[in-house]
Amino acid sequence: MQSWLGRLALSLVLASAPYLQAAGKEIVIGVAGPHTGANAPFGLQLWKGAELAAQQINEAGGVDGRKLRLVKADDACVPAQAKSVANKLVNTDAVNAVIGHFCSSSTIPAASVYRESDVLMITPASTNPRVTEDENYKTKDCSALTDAKKKESCELGNYSPIMRMCGRDDQQGVEAAEFIATKLKAKRIAVIHDKDTYGQGLADAMRAHLKTIGLEPVLYEGLTRGEKDFNALVTKIKATKADAVYFGGLHSEAGPLLKQMREQGLKSAFISGDGIVSNDFVSAAGGEQFVSGVYMTFGADPRKFPEGKKVVETFRKTGYEPEGYTLYSYAAVQAIVAAIKGSGDDRDGHKLSKWLVENGVNTVMGQAKWNPKGDLLKSGYVMYVWDQKGKYAEVGQL
Ligand code: ALA
Repeated sequence: MQSWLGRLALSLVLASAPYLQAAGKEIVIGVAGPHTGANAPFGLQLWKGAELAAQQINEAGGVDGRKLRLVKADDACVPAQAKSVANKLVNTDAVNAVIGHFCSSSTIPAASVYRESDVLMITPASTNPRVTEDENYKTKDCSALTDAKKKESCELGNYSPIMRMCGRDDQQGVEAAEFIATKLKAKRIAVIHDKDTYGQGLADAMRAHLKTIGLEPVLYEGLTRGEKDFNALVTKIKATKADAVYFGGLHSEAGPLLKQMREQGLKSAFISGDGIVSNDFVSAAGGEQFVSGVYMTFGADPRKFPEGKKVVETFRKTGYEPEGYTLYSYAAVQAIVAAIKGSGDDRDGHKLSKWLVENGVNTVMGQAKWNPKGDLLKSGYVMYVWDQKGKYAEVGQL
């Protein structure tokens, strides 16, 4: 007869069997985002962050000896392509988890694939509330279940495998509206968006908060992504005598819109969100002289956190400035690795999510903690301003 200790040892081995069977096998992480096209600079941020994290973790011995391998998946910020690369990551690459996507309009359809397959996805950058407020994520009340196994599995289902390492536009939009109303003291505000999930969603969140302050935009208008000539729209904005123009969208449209505003002599303040947090905004706008004075909401500068100091230095030594979402992506790799180590499971999105929610993770951006829905518990937005050298810094720190 087996001893009590022997039975315990055996049951522990069996419980962790999938993990042990996988010992020695690589851990494959998909890095999904716009690696080509107008938003490729953002895909590069995600890739650079994940690449250095994986390299440093591998150099330090990997995950209990298992090496990380990254797979680049290009969605070009096109929703149908995002869904198809998500299917490939799950079915062909057999990823253990995914970092991405970038554009919320790509992340949402891709997330449905990961959710169905129980694959953990952590987006470093998708800020639209619907990424985590997903109609396919329904929590269940498990309290009445008496069967322990059924109860455990019911409770596990309440941890969403779709998570983020960034804030949400219903927070970011509020920060922008407050700044426009109370700091800029703007009264005539034109709200422009790119008709996409992120851009319009952010513009709507900003507008909704303006309304609570008693301000109605003098113009609310959508432009079309991919277009470069916004002169007719600028003429329309000019006619409203707007003292502030808020833009919900990405740098590829923000740049030419801003340039054409200035060229038509429109001096109104220009405010946008995290969709312009890339050095490529400067070239999209036609030079530093155009971006100078532009305001932008983004999370507190992750390059300034003490926890990330060494990593920032390493990036800079290689000649890469870890701007925008680079460190968010690095932190997402740290979260995946911590969850695999801590939970003893390397693939079950619910188990990994549960571990992350229950334990939190120390990252290059400080401690990250989530609710079971996958949103960070803390994610403050601050206002930045771009300068004449084409750099951005938090308002008041220039
Ligand atoms: N925050 C942007 C989005 O959600 C990048 O699409």
